[in-house]
Amino acid sequence: MDSLRSKENLNQFEHIFGKTNSKPRMFVAPARINIIGEHVDYLGGIVLPAAIDFSVQLFLRPNQSPFYQFHSITYHETIKVEKPFRPNPTSPWTDYITGVIVEIEALGYQVPGFDVLVDGNIPQGSGLSSSAALEVVTGFAISETFRLGIPKEQIAVIGQKAENNFVGTKCGIMDQFIIAVGKENDCISLNTESLKYSYHHFELGDHEFYLVNSNVKHNLKDSAYNKRRQECESALAKIQIKHPNIKQLYDVALSEEEIRDCGLNSEELKRTLHVVTERERTKLVIQGLETNQFAQVGEALYGAHESLSKNFEVSCEETDFIVSTLKGLGVMGARMIGGGFGGCVLVLDKKEHFVKINPEMKKSYQQKFNLALDFYKFQISDGVREISI
Ligand code: GLA
Repeated sequence: MDSLRSKENLNQFEHIFGKTNSKPRMFVAPARINIIGEHVDYLGGIVLPAAIDFSVQLFLRPNQSPFYQFHSITYHETIKVEKPFRPNPTSPWTDYITGVIVEIEALGYQVPGFDVLVDGNIPQGSGLSSSAALEVVTGFAISETFRLGIPKEQIAVIGQKAENNFVGTKCGIMDQFIIAVGKENDCISLNTESLKYSYHHFELGDHEFYLVNSNVKHNLKDSAYNKRRQECESALAKIQIKHPNIKQLYDVALSEEEIRDCGLNSEELKRTLHVVTERERTKLVIQGLETNQFAQVGEALYGAHESLSKNFEVSCEETDFIVSTLKGLGVMGARMIGGGFGGCVLVLDKKEHFVKINPEMKKSYQQKFNLALDFYKFQISDGVREISI
């Protein structure tokens, strides 16, 4: 976000909360993409996300009171909260901030009263993790302002817990983690079981990744997400009856027939098939990116989409249409990213192809769904950080 907007936001902060001798400090957190490893981060799987240059911007200043006041530029709203904290169904955006205070205090820290102003340009409901960015920037800003010294990896876990316990979405750790530890030009491979991770830099040469936003937001997304997670848990419980040494669904190394023999219902079976095939695609994508075999990477991305659509059932008509139309136009690879049910599609293609794809896709999507299609080129960026003002 540009510095002009930061200045305006600083003025706005002082207008709303008053001008004092101490200026608020400003923090930003990025959005994220995920190259491969979808819906495996709550099953002990490997994911390959990167932070990108959309961001949430947060100004924070202690207010020497028992109250916490939050202002959102997006919602033009100021909300005051106090203990005991409860979710706020009329202004649900505040839950991502309050939930983080609750989780930090649950670790034994004291979080004194503060005022906050939030702004951002991460398209909401687009699968780019605007909510995780808000959680992580809140956790980091609190830790820095009150000198709590919480490591970034732990701030990610705090954000995930806020979302699981206070907001009520049983998300995995991927989004908060990459938003916390992201690094310019690098993605990470994260083992979501051990939380061990490493940075990877891939040279794409004359290829590029970009995003296509379907502009579809389904409001059943969160309940459907929680249901998928439950189905995976019940699948694992049934598999463990026959194979007690399997600790995570991601570790299932059985043939399809052996999986079928575990007495899974049809949903549990499909979810399991997605998870174990995603593990194989993840290996192919990492190896393909390391050795410049982009055709192999693209094919695995299409395979992932097919599996997310047919087996995990988290796609929708619009994103299925985008992916199949891109395929028909000869694009190298594409798939929905994030939780699903709309949102963005990640595309891998030859750079020169973009000028042709962009107008053709916009036209056919508009004709079919009467909806605009947005294309985003992005830079891989740093994770959460303070910006001096
Ligand atoms: C959402 C969740 C993540 C992850 C993805 C799917 O973004 O917040 O934890 O499960 O969906 O991979």
